[in-house]
Amino acid sequence: MGVGIVGIGTAVPPRILTNFDLEKMVDTSDEWITTRTGIKERHIADSNVNPSDLGTEASLKALEMAKIAPEEIDLIIVTSASLEMIFPSMAAIIQDKIGAKNAGGFDLLSACTGFVSALITGAQFIKTGDVKTVLVVGTEVLSRFVDWEDRNTCVLFGDGAGAVVLKEVGENYGLLSWSLHLDGSGADLLAIPGGCARNPCSEEVIKNKLHYIKMNGKEVFKFSVRVIGEVTEEALLKAGLSSKDLNWLVPHQANIRIIEAGAERLGISLDKVAINIQKYGNTSTASIPLALEELIREKRIKDGDIVALVGFGAGLSWGSAILRWKNIE
Ligand code: ACO
Repeated sequence: MGVGIVGIGTAVPPRILTNFDLEKMVDTSDEWITTRTGIKERHIADSNVNPSDLGTEASLKALEMAKIAPEEIDLIIVTSASLEMIFPSMAAIIQDKIGAKNAGGFDLLSACTGFVSALITGAQFIKTGDVKTVLVVGTEVLSRFVDWEDRNTCVLFGDGAGAVVLKEVGENYGLLSWSLHLDGSGADLLAIPGGCARNPCSEEVIKNKLHYIKMNGKEVFKFSVRVIGEVTEEALLKAGLSSKDLNWLVPHQANIRIIEAGAERLGISLDKVAINIQKYGNTSTASIPLALEELIREKRIKDGDIVALVGFGAGLSWGSAILRWKNIE
């Protein structure tokens, strides 16, 4: 059974923070940020906006495109690297906000690999025949977990959300193959160490800023450059395909240089790569649907196209999902 995307929606908060704004906050420059990362600006949520609000907006748009009523959703999977609370799950909060009265669901955590992991997971539920309709949401207000005095990290991240509705789409369409990996020996390379069980909230945690994103940028960069092409090739091979068959690469938008290195490894030109990092920065679980939605809206993606989604990040975690695109009517 082919399971694919029948609706997609996104949401970003209206407030934009440019590189020039950041120049006034930390010792950095538009030139450094642009050449080292490809980012020009990012969207930042106001203090009264939570990840579930952005996730709800994106979900309602995805349902509208799919022409599906909230009551028809069987399962909601929400993935995020900027949790609203440890519990309840964001799936429960969004379930209530969109009125998905008949849905079960849960949150799935895998940092920037979250969207790929959640999409693969949702598709398996439909493939077993147990459910018909799954809503997958990636949503972030990462700006709350960024140390705005740390120029090494604060220039990278942004807020936003993306949601897709998954359903049966016909044989030979939809998710063809996938590949997921973990290497927890790299757990310390990228983490929010404070505020949970290991380092519960305390004055000490706050003094040491352990409630903010801590990152070894160089090591994460080397890891990302290695896995982005590797895992895409591995997933393509499982579908009996190679990078020559690829019409679109939709990578997690972490750094333009990582994306370019991935495209080079795969031997594909950049006009086959979805890139919008310049507008949003790294929005973790939301970055892949934000990039995919743009391809769909601009009608650049065609029926039958082979599309590779690829995510990578904290864990360390990385994964790819290969889809044969079915046009959304
Ligand atoms: N402005 C100006 N200078 C800066 C800034 C800044 N914003 N940030 C760092 N620098 C300085 C550094 O301090 C360093 O100075 P030094 O040599 O005097 O110490 C210099 O720039 C060079 O630093 P590098 O680390 O060599 O720069 P690099 O080319 O590696 O780029 C970057 C840094 C952009 C962070 C890069 O390493 C990167 O993108 N890493 C991956 C990050 C990432 O993708 N993280 C998210 C993964 S997804 C997830 O799960 C959340």
